[in-house]
Amino acid sequence: MFSIFNKKESLRLGEILQVDMHSHILPGIDDGAPDVETSMRLIDGMIAMGYKKLIATPHIISDIHPNTPETINVSKQLLQAELDRNGYTIPISYAAEYMMDENFLPLIKTGNLLTLKNNILLVETMFLELPPNIEDILFQLQTHGYQPVLAHPERYHYVDRNLVKLNAFLDRKCFLQCNALSFTGYYGKREQDIAFRLLDAGLIDYIGSDVHHDRHLEHLKKFTVSSKVAKQLESLNHNNLELH
Ligand SMILES: [Fe+2]
Repeated sequence: MFSIFNKKESLRLGEILQVDMHSHILPGIDDGAPDVETSMRLIDGMIAMGYKKLIATPHIISDIHPNTPETINVSKQLLQAELDRNGYTIPISYAAEYMMDENFLPLIKTGNLLTLKNNILLVETMFLELPPNIEDILFQLQTHGYQPVLAHPERYHYVDRNLVKLNAFLDRKCFLQCNALSFTGYYGKREQDIAFRLLDAGLIDYIGSDVHHDRHLEHLKKFTVSSKVAKQLESLNHNNLELH
């Protein structure tokens, strides 16, 4: 349980954040929910945590998850039909989590990218190294009117505890999104440490679940942080709310 302000009172993660802006709940199109049944189970869990709106962000990675606005829309329609059949009213929209690989530059130039809202675009990099052309990618994104949000900077192996490599993103005014589970140590001590350093430095713009499967959900349900951290998360949460 997510504890806040006083020990007798506790709030669930979704009650604080309300909008989840990073999830893999659409069925059958990436490494998230493999089928509609799993999608529904993940959505039930997010509703139980107090979330009021979910934004699905399936991966777009050219060689591994070659999704397009069309494949994502088909998956969303399949899920929405099941939601409607069962009387769910929670709004679920979709964007994507774009891998900044060698195929991303041509995609930017099409101007046909799926955003979280308005021009806000969720992007990720490979875990091991910063893309060699990162400055060009960020320049092109901004030239085309996109505001990039880097997903889970705390998880990249090239980001050390001094956060030096993140300057490539911060210098270009890229927003940062941390995963909620990073604060619990779910991904490891290093990721937890970097997440807290980012939080204390005031560098986090969004918090996402990045929920892929039941195990993530179970850990999210047990989310606990100190009241100090809860206050910090709440104070930056206006960005999540603006996506409603
Ligand atoms: Fe993700």
